[in-house]
Amino acid sequence: MTPHNHAKPGDYAEAVLLPGDPLRAKWIAETFFENPVLVNSVRNCLGYTGTWKGKPVSVQATGMGQPSLSIYVHELINFYGVKTLLRVGTCGGLTAKVKVRDLIIAQTASTDSTIVRDGFGPYNFAPTADFMLLRDAVARAEEKSLRWHVGNMLSSDIFYHADGLKSYETLIAHGALGVEMEAAALYTLAARFNARALAICTMTDCLVTHDEISAADRQTSLNDMVTLALDVATAA
Ligand code: HPA
Repeated sequence: MTPHNHAKPGDYAEAVLLPGDPLRAKWIAETFFENPVLVNSVRNCLGYTGTWKGKPVSVQATGMGQPSLSIYVHELINFYGVKTLLRVGTCGGLTAKVKVRDLIIAQTASTDSTIVRDGFGPYNFAPTADFMLLRDAVARAEEKSLRWHVGNMLSSDIFYHADGLKSYETLIAHGALGVEMEAAALYTLAARFNARALAICTMTDCLVTHDEISAADRQTSLNDMVTLALDVATAA
């Protein structure tokens, strides 16, 4: 038990999916898991354990943003022995070449967050996905004929930037594909504590073209992303 999680040691599987939204965690558990059991409800930040195709797996909501995610991820790894962490989320698009509904699989994550600077002194750490998870996710996305992109994600602490799209100009010029709020901290903590992590995001709103996902497409896309992530998380 921790201040944020009343699960007991052993309540989580070694592989955990990480949506931001607690109700998405509930939906994932109730829609895809066999025998889902609620293991955490502190602050309504829901966590469940069950099986997927017979293999143990958990889902834990992280809340929005890197400070919130960092608390759950730190505790999942250090107090609950979690080894494989897959963020499943949505992101904004930073380039017209990524279409609404496409998956962005974050190979690396840039950030404006001080969380990633903590402890690195003069160095800029490069938060990086686990290569084996990344490779497996790409192979399975291809098999399922999903549209995917691999590259640099921006994990920003700010959703409503004072300068809007202008705030992202330099990152866009350096090839950043999308913007969300969690991947860089996830990758940094996985590196720090010797775990494996990957962030897969569905692009739901393009900041450049202003295209947005429809309600109907949102559900199909989330299904595709979650089943892909469950296959990857439970493969090893
Ligand atoms: N910014 C940050 N996070 C997001 C966005 C965005 O535009 N869209 C979905 N998640």
